[in-house]
Amino acid sequence: MAGPSPMTPLDLQTPIMAAPMAGGPSTPELAAAVSAAGGMGWLGCAYLTPEQIVEQAARVRALTDRPFGINLFVGGWSRQAGRDETAPMLKLLAEAHAKLGLPAPSAPSIGIDPFPAQLEAVLDVSPAAFSFTFGMPRAEELQRAKQQGIKVFGTATTVREAHLLAQSGVDGVIAQGDEAGGHRGSFAGAFEQSMVPVLDLVEAIGGETGLPILAAGGMMDGRDIRRALDRGASAALLGTAFLGCPEAGVSPAYRRALQTVEGDPTVITRAFSGRPARGLPNGFSRQVEATRTEIPRYPLQNAMTRPMRAAAAQQGEADYLSMWAGRGVARLREMPAAELVAVLWAELQAAGEMVAAE
Ligand SMILES: Cc1cc2nc3c(=O)[nH]c(=O)nc-3n(C[C@H](O)[C@H](O)[C@H](O)COP(=O)(O)O)c2cc1C
Repeated sequence: MAGPSPMTPLDLQTPIMAAPMAGGPSTPELAAAVSAAGGMGWLGCAYLTPEQIVEQAARVRALTDRPFGINLFVGGWSRQAGRDETAPMLKLLAEAHAKLGLPAPSAPSIGIDPFPAQLEAVLDVSPAAFSFTFGMPRAEELQRAKQQGIKVFGTATTVREAHLLAQSGVDGVIAQGDEAGGHRGSFAGAFEQSMVPVLDLVEAIGGETGLPILAAGGMMDGRDIRRALDRGASAALLGTAFLGCPEAGVSPAYRRALQTVEGDPTVITRAFSGRPARGLPNGFSRQVEATRTEIPRYPLQNAMTRPMRAAAAQQGEADYLSMWAGRGVARLREMPAAELVAVLWAELQAAGEMVAAE
């Protein structure tokens, strides 16, 4: 393998990263396999307790001594929710619960923002890199991570967000294009106004901030990665492409849905978590959109749909699962993660001249 990509502030053999995917997909086995193969794996730890974060990191370290990253959600935690806000959604969820054989749904009370305690766990673990999405940590939190030698990356969906991140002192910016699967990282403005194609976003943010850029969104093969590098990215962050790996923590129903996709059926919906996220449409998301049911904010909606999603995963019911996926999903390839990194790297090297000639 060739040397590290220029500007990547991490000691990587290839500029290929497996994106953090909270809620199960980014397992320690997936992250470790990608890191061991010369790329870098990220753990999506937003829904984990501090103890679980420490445990997952230990599992990665038991498998590889290569660098890996940890990702958290920061900000966007709202504890306000009146009964009025939840009543229409509870009515709709009641139908889903009845179909899945669950007791009637309820609106759980929302506790304190888990981020500060999760960050302490990240600092204990001291991974090579830490990234965040949905907002920005406080300046002293960011500085503590940096002082420990952890490289810190924030997620931006616009140039304005990238500027805010640059001012906060991050080591690099994740440019999340509109193609990306999963939650939109937008935090300074409406997400509808933050739908920028990844290649344009990479170029604009790189030019404006001069910081290393990790490109994220819709990249499925080495040629896609080549294009992002040519526009100024230091590395590419692929989420959906790694969902086809056996190491990814994907339920059988979700996996089947990913295998049978044609074209780009993905939609952006707030139906499952209360925050806009791109994924495969299904019975539940369509019903929420069709009935225009009021959707409580994150994290309440996320907590309210959790029993439904958990039961659906167990019962193989794709209509009630959140199935995040990016716009390139139809090009998903099923193979072990180490093999995928090797294939992507070979394609990336071969693509140099082809893409330059386009
Ligand atoms: C299943 C899934 C879960 C995700 N979870 C997270 C997450 O926890 N934190 C985060 O910053 N991004 C998350 N993302 C977004 C990815 O980090 C990345 O932006 C995206 O996967 C890139 O687009 P692609 O899926 O088209 O490759 C998730 C994406 C997917 C597909």
